Amino acid sequence: METPLLSVKSLTIGIRRPKGSDTIIVDDLSFDIQQGERFGIVGESGSGKSLTLRAIADLLPKGVKVLSGSILYNGAELVGMPTAQRRKLMGPEIAMIFQEPMTALNPVIRVGDQIAEGPRRYLGLSKKAAMELAIEMMAKTGIPDPARRARAYPHELSGGLRQRIMIAMALSCGPKLLLCDEPTTALDVTVQHQVLKVLEELCDDSGAALAFVTHDLAVVNQTCSDLAVMYAGHIIEAGRVKDVFSDPRHPYTKGLLDSAPDFDQPDRDLVPIPGFPPNLAARTAGCAFAPRCAFAVDACTVAIPPTLEVAPGHKAACIESERIFEGILA
Ligand SMILES: Nc1ncnc2c1ncn2[C@@H]1O[C@H](COP(=O)(O)OP(=O)(O)O)[C@@H](O)[C@H]1O
Ligand SMILES: [Mg+2]
Repeated sequence: METPLLSVKSLTIGIRRPKGSDTIIVDDLSFDIQQGERFGIVGESGSGKSLTLRAIADLLPKGVKVLSGSILYNGAELVGMPTAQRRKLMGPEIAMIFQEPMTALNPVIRVGDQIAEGPRRYLGLSKKAAMELAIEMMAKTGIPDPARRARAYPHELSGGLRQRIMIAMALSCGPKLLLCDEPTTALDVTVQHQVLKVLEELCDDSGAALAFVTHDLAVVNQTCSDLAVMYAGHIIEAGRVKDVFSDPRHPYTKGLLDSAPDFDQPDRDLVPIPGFPPNLAARTAGCAFAPRCAFAVDACTVAIPPTLEVAPGHKAACIESERIFEGILA
C-alpha cells in the first residue's frame, strides 16, 4: 500500500481554555486521501467541515487550534511544523479554494496579477512568464478573452468568472492537493455545474487530489469517488460514494439522502431530519445524533458508538447499522 498523499489521524480541533475544559469542535477525525483521489466531506452547516480544511491549510481562525492528532502530508507531519516551512507547501503542494471568492481575492489588484503572484513567488518565473501562465490558466478554466479579462478587477467579473479565477489561481503552481470549501455554493445551479466540470477536468489533467467540502449531496455524487459524512465534529460514516449512497448505514446519512432532491426520482417525497443541529458547547456523552434519531436505543446515549466496518471499505459509527440495513431491505 503506497503512502497516502494526506493522512489525517485522530485530529481534534477546538478552543483551548487554560482555566476549564477545552471546547472541542472537531473530534478525533481520521481519513486518508490518496494521490489524485477525490474525497468529499459532507454535513450540515456547523459540523466542522471548514475548520478541518483550514487545519490542513494552516488557516485556522484566531483562537481555534489543533488540540491533538496528526496531519501527514506525503509522510511529513504538518501539525507543529514551523510556519515558514509550512507556508512553502501552500501553492506548489497544497492550495485552497473558498466559497466566496470576493473574500479571498484582493479587490484592488487586477486578477491577472493576483494569479501571477504565486508562480512568480513559488516557481521563480519572471513577471512576463508568470503573466503568460496566468492567462493560460484563465483560458483553461474557460474564461473567454483571458488576456483582456486578466486586466479586470474582481468586482468587474461575475460570480462564476471570479470562481474560475480562484481555480486558476489555486492550480497555477501545480498543487498535488486542492482543498475546496463549498466552491460552488454561492453560484446558481447552471454555473455551478460548469465550474465543477472545469475543476474536475483540470484536476484530471494535473493529477491533483481533491478534498471537497460541501453540504450538497448531488455535488459530491458528481465530483467525488469517496466521502466522509460529518455530524457535530465527528465522521459518522465513510466509504465509496456509490456504496454509501446506495446503502447508507448511519441514520444521519440516510436522513440527509431522504431530505435531498433526487433527480432520478423527482416524484419521491422529501423527508426532513427532525430536530435541530447539535449545540457543540453542550456535548452529551453518547452519539451526538441520538436526540434526533428514530433508531436510537438507550446505549446510544451512554457512549460514542465505535466505528464499525459494515462492508469492505465502508464504515459507520452506529450500533444499529445492521438494523438500518435490514430496515432498508424490508
Ligand atoms: N472563529 C471561530 N471561533 C470559535 N468557534 C468557531 C469559529 N469558527 C467556527 N467555530 C465553531 O466551529 C463550528 C464548526 O465550524 P465550521 O467548520 O465552519 O462548520 P461547517 O464548515 O461545517 O459549516 C461552528 O459551528 C462554530 O461553533
Ligand atoms: Mg463551512
